[in-house]
Amino acid sequence: MVSPQMVNVGVLASGRGSNFQAIADHQHLGIFQNVNVRVLIYNNPEASAKHIAEKYGIAGHFVDHRNRDRIEFERQIVDLLNSSGVDLVCLAGWDRIVGSEFFQKYRWRIMNIHPALLPSFGWKGLNARYVHEAALEYGVKITGCTVYFIDVSVEKGPIILQHPVRVLESEIELFKNRREDAIQSLSDRVLIHEHQIYSKAIQLYADGRLRVDEIVTRNKENRTNRVVSIDLRGEWKRKWDERQRPFIEAQRKTWTAKGVRVDEESN
Ligand code: GRF
Repeated sequence: MVSPQMVNVGVLASGRGSNFQAIADHQHLGIFQNVNVRVLIYNNPEASAKHIAEKYGIAGHFVDHRNRDRIEFERQIVDLLNSSGVDLVCLAGWDRIVGSEFFQKYRWRIMNIHPALLPSFGWKGLNARYVHEAALEYGVKITGCTVYFIDVSVEKGPIILQHPVRVLESEIELFKNRREDAIQSLSDRVLIHEHQIYSKAIQLYADGRLRVDEIVTRNKENRTNRVVSIDLRGEWKRKWDERQRPFIEAQRKTWTAKGVRVDEESN
């Protein structure tokens, strides 16, 4: 358990940065308690995330991954995180695999978000578009998003929060002729929930409400799995939902203006 003191967050992003923006919005709107989004690290000089950091007055650092080995690249990141006093690392559209040295230093202190219900479509890798395409190709009726603690392998690790999103019949139809439009529609509707649950997971962490337990599986190998328990005592959820409401209201306005069906839960 983490004591209820200020938790400094470092975000690693490679591209658009909408999850980073949502996290920064939670800070800006005063929704977080004892959370300080301290630093953004980006590995793509064109990442829009850097403009978001500037807008919110969050320190941004570019770390180049090109033409160097991963260990050196990650050491530079770890040094920056250390010097910024970061306690919790949030990968938000980060397109690099986390190596074991980085993982060991921040064990169960690195979160990631995946645009599907893990373990489904985890193997589809780091690009959200392919994950949604695979879900539509497979014909799943429910997809969603997952926040989890990074383990040594990609898209695998103890699950913290998930949110289901129903695939619309209209998207399944659309996918037959206008593939990209269907992918975009599903991706937008999942993203709305990504933006909500990532900050919730961060607050749960900061409140010391997450615990990673080991469970021995009953299969032949007796492998150890890690499972996250969440302590929701003391009306944590009700209080969080109340605090997060202004974000959700602003979000609803923004997405509705873009023509996205925000409240669509059933067909
Ligand atoms: C999100 O869909 C996230 O789940 C996945 O990559 C996408 C990043 O989007 N890991 P953004 O850069 O946060 O807008």
